[in-house]
Amino acid sequence: MAKYPRFSGSATDELRGFRGGPEDHIRLKLRDAFTPAQPVADVRHLAGRTTVLRSLIRSLEDQRLHVVLYGERGIGKTSLLRALTELGQEAQYLVRYTSCGEESDFSALFRSVISTIPLLYHADHDPTDEEIEQGKSLDSLLPSGPLSANQISDLFARLSGTRILIILDEFDRSPNSGFRRSVAELIKNLSDRSIRVQLLIAGVASNLAELVEHVPSIRRNIFGLRVPAMEADEIRELIEIGEHASGMAFDDKAIQLITSFSCGSPYLASLLGQHAGMAALDRGVKEAGASDVAEAVRIAADEIEQRVSENSVETINRAFAEGKDYALAALARIAMGHGGRLDTKNGDNAAECERAVKDAGLPYELVVPAGKPEDGRYEFREEGLPTYLWMMVARDLVNDPAKAVAKIGS
Ligand SMILES: Nc1ncnc2c1ncn2[C@@H]1O[C@H](COP(=O)(O)OP(=O)(O)OP(=O)(O)O)[C@@H](O)[C@H]1O
Ligand SMILES: [Mg+2]
Repeated sequence: MAKYPRFSGSATDELRGFRGGPEDHIRLKLRDAFTPAQPVADVRHLAGRTTVLRSLIRSLEDQRLHVVLYGERGIGKTSLLRALTELGQEAQYLVRYTSCGEESDFSALFRSVISTIPLLYHADHDPTDEEIEQGKSLDSLLPSGPLSANQISDLFARLSGTRILIILDEFDRSPNSGFRRSVAELIKNLSDRSIRVQLLIAGVASNLAELVEHVPSIRRNIFGLRVPAMEADEIRELIEIGEHASGMAFDDKAIQLITSFSCGSPYLASLLGQHAGMAALDRGVKEAGASDVAEAVRIAADEIEQRVSENSVETINRAFAEGKDYALAALARIAMGHGGRLDTKNGDNAAECERAVKDAGLPYELVVPAGKPEDGRYEFREEGLPTYLWMMVARDLVNDPAKAVAKIGS
């Protein structure tokens, strides 16, 4: 048996009776402290994001708007929704979270949400009713068969004594325009009749129109919020939270490197934090330093490479070999800081962006126009490319800092 690698923890998450040394203990905790593959589940582990949460709460509570939250993959949408769920529940909202998919069906989705809402909250039912005692829910008032947005809002119109927040995450995953149109119609109905139900839609998109493309009529009824890249102090806080949760410390240089290599992405910060912590443990120390972050960057770059198409990996290798690393690094940084958008006409980086698009983006067909060609907006042809490129640049930096700085700039 000894020659095989073994799982080091137990699937029961039990630490009791745990026979490893203190280092194995930290290793186990590191996995929960930095969770690059999972959203933050507990508001106490959410770093930063106070401004975003404040404006979400304001628009829901003060303006009674519906909300569309958008941003690129891994920017922290689901983590924010989890935190908002907790905060909403604390304020006695009934919060219902659902994740959309290719199969999402309007009737089935809302029927299942409604089935979790106690009859108690229906204005026409007296709380002493026998049915309420039996734990019946609002869906007992719905007809069978497909439901229309009208039928659902008629039912919701009779709600009293509570407010409901329905979260539809991964809205972009539903390719069904009928589903999207019905959701929009429901939003319109709910707003026009001041009904005590609000929708919070989230998904991957570089602009609001992309996510609600079929439904310009609801623009007035929704608050669109793009989740911004995280600030350096928010990334620092993410690492501090991880330090407390795991018992692994990160020295100043390590924190500084993770902050600049993550480029505002909580996903990258979490990934680098976990790998750097593990690398430090492999060296038998409990404080991660610059060399551990360097190791983390190498592992992360290999890992992310698996998620990019072979064709793009080849193209990027060729472009790097032909001296386009500076231009591609600039494009990656701009995209990561602006929700995936490359704007050659507006914004602080417009001139730099235009140069890099012309120099490397278009010649290697790594970027494509977004919207009308005359708008001068572009995006990477593949979603994961900015992150991958950024890790390639980081890998060059940690492998050969002098050469990389000379080529790429500091
Ligand atoms: N505010 C935060 N504090 C700490 N970690 C965060 C924060 N936001 C996101 N993360 C981490 O970043 C990663 C991505 O977050 P999340 O899953 O919420 O992103 P997402 O935008 O929903 O991604 P996707 O588009 O793939 O669904 C997760 O590892 C999560 O733990
Ligand atoms: Mg998500």
